[in-house]
Amino acid sequence: MSMSLDTSSTNKTRHNLNDYDEIWLFGYGSLIYKVDFPYVEKLPASIEGWERRFWQGSHDHRGTPDRPGRVVTLIDSPDAMCVGMAFKVTPDVFEHLDHREKNGYLRHEVMIRFENGESKKGLIYIADENNEAYLGADTELNIAKQIHKCMGPSGPNAEYALELAQAIRALNAIDTHVFAIEAYLKQWGDTE
Ligand code: BEZ
Repeated sequence: MSMSLDTSSTNKTRHNLNDYDEIWLFGYGSLIYKVDFPYVEKLPASIEGWERRFWQGSHDHRGTPDRPGRVVTLIDSPDAMCVGMAFKVTPDVFEHLDHREKNGYLRHEVMIRFENGESKKGLIYIADENNEAYLGADTELNIAKQIHKCMGPSGPNAEYALELAQAIRALNAIDTHVFAIEAYLKQWGDTE
C-alpha cells in the first residue's frame, strides 16, 4: 500500500467502534486545550510508556507544505508517563477527529489511568515514523527555531506550543521537552 498523508480512511477501518458501549479518548496535544467536539465527561488522566515529542510535521494546521510546522506525537518510552485529558465520547466524534487529525495520525488502543486509580481502555492518535509528514528527532533548540518561524491555517506554530505548555501546567504536570521549547519561544517573543 502506498503511504498517504491522509490517514482518515485508514482510521475508519482500524477499530470497530460499534463494539464499544462507551469510548474514552485520551488527548495529549491540542485535544487538551482545543475541544471542538461534544463529550459526555472529561477527566485528567495519564498513559504509561509514552512520551510527547514535537516530531510530527504539520503542513495543514500549523505550517504549510513548503514550511511545515511541528506538532506533538507520542514515542514509545517504557519508563515514561504522559499526562493529558481523557474524554468520554460517542463513536461519531471519531469521524470528526479522523478528519481533523488526518495528517498522519492513526488511532491506537491504550490503557488510560484516571486520577482515582481506575484504568479503562481507550483510544489515542499517534503519528509514527511511517507517515510522510513525520520529521523525527532534533534538538529542542532547532525544534523551537522551526516552530518560531512557522504558521498555517490554524495559526502560528508558536501559539500551539505555548498553549500546549500552559495546558500541561494546568494539569499540574511537567513535560521537560515541551517546557524547554516553550522557554525558547518565550525568550524570543512574538513570531516573525
Ligand atoms: C491529542 O491531543 O491527543 C492529539 C491532537 C492532535 C493530533 C493527535 C493527537
